[in-house]
Amino acid sequence: MTGELKQLIGRINEEIDSLQLGDKPKELYEPIDYIMRLGGKRLRPLMALLAYRLFKPDWESILRPALAIEVFHNFTLMHDDIMDHAPLRRGQQTVHEKWNDNIAILSGDVMFVKAYDLLLECQPEYFRELIQKFNQCAREVCEGQQFDMNFESRQDVTETEYLEMIRLKTAVLLGFSLEMGAILAGADQKTCEAIRDFGVNIGIGFQLKDDLLDVYADQDKFGKQVGGDIIANKKTFLLIEALEKAEGSLQNELNHWLGKTEFDKTQKVEAVTAIYDQLGIQTITENRMNEYFDKGFQALDRIPVAEEQKEELRAFAQALINREK
Ligand code: IPE
Ligand code: IPE
Ligand code: MG
Ligand code: MG
Ligand code: MG
Repeated sequence: MTGELKQLIGRINEEIDSLQLGDKPKELYEPIDYIMRLGGKRLRPLMALLAYRLFKPDWESILRPALAIEVFHNFTLMHDDIMDHAPLRRGQQTVHEKWNDNIAILSGDVMFVKAYDLLLECQPEYFRELIQKFNQCAREVCEGQQFDMNFESRQDVTETEYLEMIRLKTAVLLGFSLEMGAILAGADQKTCEAIRDFGVNIGIGFQLKDDLLDVYADQDKFGKQVGGDIIANKKTFLLIEALEKAEGSLQNELNHWLGKTEFDKTQKVEAVTAIYDQLGIQTITENRMNEYFDKGFQALDRIPVAEEQKEELRAFAQALINREK
């Protein structure tokens, strides 16, 4: 990230530190403080601020509403980690591991409510539009999450189905984050659509990168369990490609690991990663990721503001491509 983006993230983090989301009963609120303060890249509120800054300078005025998206995102992570049986988040124990599933469910629920409280701190003239768009986005995230789980037990998931699943579970929220910034800055509808389109496309690229990192990240930097998707038979882009490309003994080996119900996790992760390596899956995935980022950049070109105004968003998207966590 560039210095300017880092500064904005610093400001977002200060504001998160000052959030008072509740204290009693502590079993309900401690996990919220815990997950919100674990770190995290703060990409989504940053996107809202960057989109706003394309049109207006006084971005501090939308800082609290922008945090609604971060609170919502952290809620989805808390519940996602239950669904994915994930042990680690941002380098620490997940909430359901540190406490238990019920605590993670209920703390997550109250975070969803708190997200609305923050959203309602925007100018009242935007309530209706923002809440409708936010609700659509939240519904779509749930749809994507259910597809993601349905796909775990299927072997015939197509690339098209996968792309739709990640559009829903991940990309629409990045699109909404940008669109919200543009709406609050008073941008016209066509411009808001173009900026959302930019967000959805880089959002798909972002999830492709997340799938890649799940296999190839450096565990110390990543903060999540490397290989988690392989362990769970997640139909990531990598696995779908591998299922399509593998033949003969490699195909048998891949099917063997997918069908095994009892296995040593490390062994499975190593074996499936080795299959990916033999099939050149990493490069194929990177190419596809770059295609989506390019599509995003094309949408950015359509936004009617001076080129130099867009530099921040370009630098931001580039940082997403290059990220290591
Ligand atoms: C993780 O999102 C969930 C996905 C949609 C892949 P981030 O990678 O933005 O997670 P944090 O907030 O930085 O931890
Ligand atoms: C998560 O996808 C998307 C949402 C949280 C809605 P993943 O399951 O791949 O996210 P990580 O990898 O656990 O962050
Ligand atoms: Mg997960
Ligand atoms: Mg998941
Ligand atoms: Mg992931």
